[in-house]
Amino acid sequence: MATMINVNGTLTPGEQAVVPVLDHGFLYGDGVYEVCRTYNGRLFLYDRHMRRLRRSAGMIALDVLFTDEEVAARIDATLAAAELSRPGVTGPDAYVRIVLTRGVGDLSYDPGACPQPSLVIIVKPHVAPAPDVYDLGVRVALVPVARNHPDTINPLIKSNNLLNNALAMQHALRQGAFEAVMRNLRGDISECSQSNLFVVRDGTVLTPPLASGLLAGITREFVFEIARAIDAPAAETRLRDRDLLEADEAFLTSTTREIVPIVLVDEHRIGTGHPGPVTRALLEAFRARADALTRGTGAHTPAFSA
Ligand code: PDD
Repeated sequence: MATMINVNGTLTPGEQAVVPVLDHGFLYGDGVYEVCRTYNGRLFLYDRHMRRLRRSAGMIALDVLFTDEEVAARIDATLAAAELSRPGVTGPDAYVRIVLTRGVGDLSYDPGACPQPSLVIIVKPHVAPAPDVYDLGVRVALVPVARNHPDTINPLIKSNNLLNNALAMQHALRQGAFEAVMRNLRGDISECSQSNLFVVRDGTVLTPPLASGLLAGITREFVFEIARAIDAPAAETRLRDRDLLEADEAFLTSTTREIVPIVLVDEHRIGTGHPGPVTRALLEAFRARADALTRGTGAHTPAFSA
């Protein structure tokens, strides 16, 4: 049970896997990726992740030469080599990163230099945040690194070019914070370095619209469906710092973290300083739904629609 990496169909233990230096993913961050995870040995919302991978690739004019089933077969082989759980085989749940790059080519920004994209799949045991993260909530930092303007590298592209996110998170790490909250260039809150942000105000669940410049998170979308299912009103709206600082509750969402309550923004307490009732209800409903959707008999679960 370790990290296994599938590089263009070849399985290699994590620490030995390599890509050529002339891969434009390495040289320029020219590529896209997805992070999925398994529950009960099944890829969760895999079809949505693949749809977003194709959208991201389309936004950088990169061809996805594989069907969802072909990518799933490679994931399955990699999970098997890593001895992680998969349909019919119990074991620890998996983190699955699908990386598609422009491929190997001469030193040039011309995509024509790279005849063949590279497909890399990284799997390792899924490590959930510690129980205290959910029970007590976390502190996040509002960082001065602005999220990319959509006319630069559009945050809708889940791109391998992650320096904007890394710089923001490094700022938060220096403050000892769990995540970095980023604003767009207008000063509106957009998202976190590796998750989406929500607040709860007067019982309504609010998150910035895509127009604020952020990734269309799969968990973010799922939270809207869960909110409907538990009768919590939810909407997209522009958020300023005050909306976060004066919120009754706040939380962040991502594939690997699910729904994490935020109780402090820098030194400012949010609500009561404890995970709030709406956040808790959403997390409980989310987990129940994820479990139910991955207990079926099919290899990969269909999308859930409320
Ligand atoms: N991060 N925003 C950014 C910038 C992200 O990188 C992510 C995902 C999200 C949440 O998206 P989703 O709910 O689809 O996971 C929002 C993944 C987990 C990562 O890069 O590891």
